[in-house]
Amino acid sequence: MNASPLAVHDDGPEGVYTRGAGEMREWWRVSLSERANLFRIEHGHGDAATGKVDIDTVVDLDNLDAKLLKWRREGFAADAGREDEARAAEAGSRFGAELRLAAASARAARRGAHGAGSEVRTVRIGTVDVPVAQAALNGAPASQARVPRINDAYLFTARTDDIAMDIVENRRVMLIGHMGSGKTSFVEQIAARTGHGVLRANMNGQTTIGDFVGFWTVKGGETVWVDGVLPIAMREGAWLIIDELDFAEPSILAVLTAVLEPEGRLLLKERGNEIVTPHPEFRLFATANAAGAMSAYRHLYQGANLLNEAFLDRWRVYLFDYLSKDEEAEVLRRTLPQLPPALAPTLAAIAADCRAAFAREDLASAFSTRRLIDWAELMLRTGDAERAAGPSIYAKVSAEDAALIRSIIRHHAIFDADQGAR
Ligand SMILES: Nc1ncnc2c1ncn2[C@@H]1O[C@H](COP(=O)(O)OP(=O)(O)OP(=O)(O)O)[C@@H](O)[C@H]1O
Ligand SMILES: [Mg+2]
Repeated sequence: MNASPLAVHDDGPEGVYTRGAGEMREWWRVSLSERANLFRIEHGHGDAATGKVDIDTVVDLDNLDAKLLKWRREGFAADAGREDEARAAEAGSRFGAELRLAAASARAARRGAHGAGSEVRTVRIGTVDVPVAQAALNGAPASQARVPRINDAYLFTARTDDIAMDIVENRRVMLIGHMGSGKTSFVEQIAARTGHGVLRANMNGQTTIGDFVGFWTVKGGETVWVDGVLPIAMREGAWLIIDELDFAEPSILAVLTAVLEPEGRLLLKERGNEIVTPHPEFRLFATANAAGAMSAYRHLYQGANLLNEAFLDRWRVYLFDYLSKDEEAEVLRRTLPQLPPALAPTLAAIAADCRAAFAREDLASAFSTRRLIDWAELMLRTGDAERAAGPSIYAKVSAEDAALIRSIIRHHAIFDADQGAR
């Protein structure tokens, strides 16, 4: 006997199976027979409860299984399932409507809070109003040194609205995605526009727990404490971006866990248990290439640690995909206005094709927006797309990958004819 009759039995095949509606409604009813291991099946039209039965017979489990399959093929479905589906759909649409209403009134309340006498100056990022740093309003020059430069070519897309709102609400944000998809620059560009200082710590072998938290040292015969990036950012109210968090040492992750709560304070054990309370403008961000939903790509980012779920649960985690073709063409046009207009979409299409090849595992290397911009810049300098691809693309990947990328580029016919023959 095959396995499926048992599966049907486990689900309970009893019930009414119908197709059509009203007068056209046709049904099969399955119930347990009085005889062991047998089922009674009845057939009729109209209402199964009151309608006339024109077939009434008894079948065993194998036979019933075959009939269920046949009925399903003929368009019969279990009434119970239909009712469940209808109930779920109704509840879903009701919850959906209620949720949208609740979100709208929360938005209105936020606008009211900003408007009512409070002097919060904001900058609009996408559709979100992000408060400007107090220091920027006071013109405090020292903290301004940490504010990133505005990149006018930066394109905020719809994907970033939720993250901007998280910043307003002081949530911990982790951006995961392939290299050069725009994770770091996104945070920097919001900070640049709102006047917030940014500190960065890269966890890929460069940051020790001492750099991160602080250390004692001897200066001019005196022992002095030097704050690490975390307490500096917390005291000043700067934004801290921890890059490549999935490479961090466990001791750093342990320290971080404590400050992940919105008001989370830092305990400097080394400094006689001094407690550092976060400045209200302090924000914490992390980027990672291979955490969470990106874990399938861990082989590409050798040495990346698996961040456990309890740790990830303390963050809002966003998957940062590459920009769409249209968005990337727009970024190229904004970044390099001298680029011939028709070239931007072609270059974006090449990048998209390379990424598709990467997703199929035909290419071992991802194709970043950074790489695309760099190639285009070099193209403008050399006037030669193939030559420009050397240092910006080919030399960074394996010979096989370079050959495939070259053929993708050729396919888009941007090399001069004579170069194609080389
Ligand atoms: N939306 C965008 N608008 C304009 N430029 C962008 C955009 N997204 C990415 N870029 C460009 O791509 C470059 C790489 O982005 P970024 O450094 O933020 O990537 P990343 O995801 O942090 O990369 P990595 O994983 O290597 O750290 C940026 O310097 C910028 O030039
Ligand atoms: Mg980065």
